[in-house]
Amino acid sequence: MAISSRLDTARVLATVLLPTLAKGVVVRRPGVMAAAERVQSDARAITTMRGLRDRYGPEPVRLRITGRSVAVLVDPTDVGRLLAESPEPFALATKEKKAALAHFQPHGVLISEGPGREHLRALNERALRPENVPAEAIVRDEADLLTRHVTSTGELTWESFNQAWWRIVRRIVLGNGARGDDQLTDDLKALRENANWAFLHPRQRGLRDRFQHRLDEHLARREEGSLAAQPGDLSGQVPHWLFAFDAAGIVTLRALALGARGMNGILESARLWPTTPVILRESTEPTRWHGTWLPENTEFVVFTPFFHRDPDRLPFADSYAPEYWDGPLDPAIVPFSAGPGVCPGRDLVLTVAATMLDTLSEHLSVPSPGTPLPATLNHFGIRVPAQPAGSRV
Ligand code: HEM
Repeated sequence: MAISSRLDTARVLATVLLPTLAKGVVVRRPGVMAAAERVQSDARAITTMRGLRDRYGPEPVRLRITGRSVAVLVDPTDVGRLLAESPEPFALATKEKKAALAHFQPHGVLISEGPGREHLRALNERALRPENVPAEAIVRDEADLLTRHVTSTGELTWESFNQAWWRIVRRIVLGNGARGDDQLTDDLKALRENANWAFLHPRQRGLRDRFQHRLDEHLARREEGSLAAQPGDLSGQVPHWLFAFDAAGIVTLRALALGARGMNGILESARLWPTTPVILRESTEPTRWHGTWLPENTEFVVFTPFFHRDPDRLPFADSYAPEYWDGPLDPAIVPFSAGPGVCPGRDLVLTVAATMLDTLSEHLSVPSPGTPLPATLNHFGIRVPAQPAGSRV
């Protein structure tokens, strides 16, 4: 059985898990992201993971942590299995996720279980179909306004991008009546900052009630042309949708900085810099791996930057390779997860993000990034030069 030495457990904690926590699992912390970029913390994490695989072979590697059975996957086929066999026997609703997400989305599908989960999963899949909303028209509208702004200031920054992005998200999710409601997304951000601390932060009932009340008022309009018009009780699901659109904005801006285009460009941005760097599952029964049994309630850790950027397996690991997405897919390149727990917002995200990317790209001159691409990319620091449309030769 592969049980890591104390030294290797310390290495995984210090270079893989703690930096991921420090960056902010639920909402990214700008100061830590900048520091992580300076030291390229993901490169160190990937080196640690390659070391584990070299020393222990393909079996899941158990960490020496008291009071919790934790196994880190190193074999791509095992990742495929773990995700395919969710939510039974590999539950999405792990203890850690429940503690974090209860701060702002206690009724979200991600931390639901049993028959309740099936119902919520179906509701999410139905509601999040891209054809339910005129996403492209909304994005073009806001992207044009943003373009006018950045051609006057000379560059696109995270701040200006993010402001336009949230207008788009509020219009898509809640309708035009929510376009200017910055307070709603600011409150959600504050709740998510608490969620970064999971168990350690007390729940702020007052703030959560205020947020949910505001959200329910928008939902009650059931505005035509927004996701709020979809049938079913959406109130418990929408906090996750709003939260997850943050990741989609980050992926889009990075794709822009990369000079990427289209849906494959968005997928590449999410492969190169996955916004869910750790996918967790908790087993509901003992399970067998490469001949070894692991106990019930084992927490399985998939550290996606390792599988997405593994130079031993992927010739394109550190380059922009949009063509990869048209060929046979690797079971461990999973920016949107896979199997029954795959992101139900994936197609909507790809539509919204690719439209934003392509519309903005027409007006910005992106210097082509060199290879190898950096392992860590701080989106808060991205600046893209802008020029008036038609001034390019
Ligand atoms: C770039 C943007 C996004 C990425 C990379 C992404 C990725 C993911 C991943 C990796 C998971 C699985 C998490 C896990 O297994 O623990 C997930 C779940 C989920 N995502 Fe996304 N997501 C994105 C945006 C969105 C958006 C915008 C929405 C909704 C509008 C959404 C809705 C969901 C929901 C509801 C789940 C939970 C599914 C379940 O529990 O069965 N996601 N997403």
